[in-house]
Amino acid sequence: MQEILFLGAGNMARALIAGLVRQGWPATAITVCAPHAERREALAAAFGVHAAPAQARVITPGSTVILAVKPKSIGTVLAAWQGSLSQARPLLISVAAGVPVASLQHALGEALPVVRTMPNTPAQIGAGATALFASPEVNDEQRQAAAAILGAVGSIHWLEDEGLMDIATALSGSGPAYVLLFLEALEDAAVAQGLDRPNARALTLQTVLGTARMAAETGQSPTSLRHQVTSPGGTTAAALAVWEEGLRSLAQRALTAAAQRSRALASTSKD
Ligand SMILES: NC(=O)c1ccc[n+]([C@@H]2O[C@H](COP(=O)([O-])OP(=O)(O)OC[C@H]3O[C@@H](n4cnc5c(N)ncnc54)[C@H](OP(=O)(O)O)[C@@H]3O)[C@@H](O)[C@H]2O)c1
Repeated sequence: MQEILFLGAGNMARALIAGLVRQGWPATAITVCAPHAERREALAAAFGVHAAPAQARVITPGSTVILAVKPKSIGTVLAAWQGSLSQARPLLISVAAGVPVASLQHALGEALPVVRTMPNTPAQIGAGATALFASPEVNDEQRQAAAAILGAVGSIHWLEDEGLMDIATALSGSGPAYVLLFLEALEDAAVAQGLDRPNARALTLQTVLGTARMAAETGQSPTSLRHQVTSPGGTTAAALAVWEEGLRSLAQRALTAAAQRSRALASTSKD
């Protein structure tokens, strides 16, 4: 199994490592580098991966480096690792929101093979969804390596136009938070009308989970499934009339705001 070096030991590194180890990726083939010992050691203790201080390790040719730091730290991190990256020419997988391949290659000072990705946090239980874009320097083997790594933690979806990464970020990268907000709102509404919280939470959760599974497993469109459960004049129709007053325009506005933020991150990540 190829070696993976994580630069960064935060939430996304944890989610990906948890998912990889859970799917049987050998923990000993994974190393985490980050400045603060307690964060990288916490990952080593939790998953059995190696931990090393930033820059304590040489990059081996043929390995994969996963850049999992905040967009604002990328310039510093790549400058610090430039020598080893240039020598080993590994596949670089970036999970940084809004940072274009051109900015990464500019920071590196050369066109190394880069796969820009946008994973999401359900990766930690193997249920992530990741959008990927490969730079022209990425060969078939490296494309497969990226697919194997991100595919170990959920579904993968290649984009051929990097410009679509902003909307993928707005949809699936930030998406888990929207679903969680929806869960909260439904649960709170049920509690406000008298249902006890444990039942409200359990019913909400299973409804969302079961409906998502039903849509995925039947392959039917959400519209078709929704029509099947909506009798004219019934309870569902009464509620849907209220949701239709604002939900679609809110979804448009929310995704537009997130995609704009992603584009803004792209412009601040340029030197
Ligand atoms: N969280 C999400 O849902 C999500 C989803 C998709 C994509 N992303 C992307 O994932 C990336 C990381 O986000 P996060 O939420 O995981 O951030 P985070 O929890 O703040 O973690 C950032 C990590 O970067 C490390 N770091 C900073 N400077 C470093 C250096 N010089 N060398 C090595 N490591 C360094 C930090 O080290 P210390 O621990 O030592 O401080 C920390 O472990 C971001 O670019 C974000 O856009 C996040």
